[in-house]
Amino acid sequence: MSDKEILKVMDVSKTFQVDAGEVTAMDNVSFTAEKGHVTTIVGPSGSGKTTLLYVVGSLEKPESGEIEVAGSDILDPGADLVRYRRESVGFVFQFFNLVPTLTALENVMLPMDLAGMQPAEQHRRAAELLERMGVSGRLLKARPGKMSGGENQRVAIARALANDPDVILADEPTGNLDTATGQTVIDILSGLAREENKCVLMVTHDESILEVSDKAFQMSDGRLSELTA
Ligand SMILES: Nc1ncnc2c1ncn2[C@@H]1O[C@H](COP(=O)(O)OP(=O)(O)OP(=O)(O)O)[C@@H](O)[C@H]1O
Ligand SMILES: [Mg+2]
Repeated sequence: MSDKEILKVMDVSKTFQVDAGEVTAMDNVSFTAEKGHVTTIVGPSGSGKTTLLYVVGSLEKPESGEIEVAGSDILDPGADLVRYRRESVGFVFQFFNLVPTLTALENVMLPMDLAGMQPAEQHRRAAELLERMGVSGRLLKARPGKMSGGENQRVAIARALANDPDVILADEPTGNLDTATGQTVIDILSGLAREENKCVLMVTHDESILEVSDKAFQMSDGRLSELTA
């Protein structure tokens, strides 16, 4: 294994109990993803893509398998999952999921606050991350409802970077944006991989994301297979 392979998922299965019985959302899924790379997952609605990101982000627990992130087993009963979710992974969602009552700046400061960072440092770092995403001036004090979709998503990416995680998990990050704004978001996310050595794992229907991907997988009925270029 290359030491860039920060994420290793081995034989992971996840089922949900529903009224009609059981749904197998992940069926013996195995893959690796590297730092510095964009890894993409495509597949039809209901095939298990979001479940896979949630399981990797430790928001859902699988029944079986192994998940190793930066050498730590996150399914180990002794794993510090609060810290893992806060500091090792950053989430970017299709509908942004910002806190509507907080400003752009406060949304980005929130994860730093939860991690115990000093307020002055939170403010400095949040402004710097937002600036890097092209969000500045009056937008720093704007609430999500007063910003465009692209601005909301750039704030959400800055928030995902708040505690400098190694892994960025993005679920249809351009799904709610027009083509040009979506391209900006793709450029930002691929830049995080290329220039900041992040491991970027994205779920998408967007063909232009496939073009910037180093590795791509297809999810189908809970099963993952590698797509060859
Ligand atoms: N909390 C849940 N409870 C019960 N079933 C669930 C739950 N979450 C997901 N599922 C089921 O698991 C399967 C995979 O869902 P998932 O959300 O991972 O699909 P997806 O590939 O992300 O789809 P989409 O492209 O529509 O977002 C689906 O059959 C779904 O109905
Ligand atoms: Mg989904």
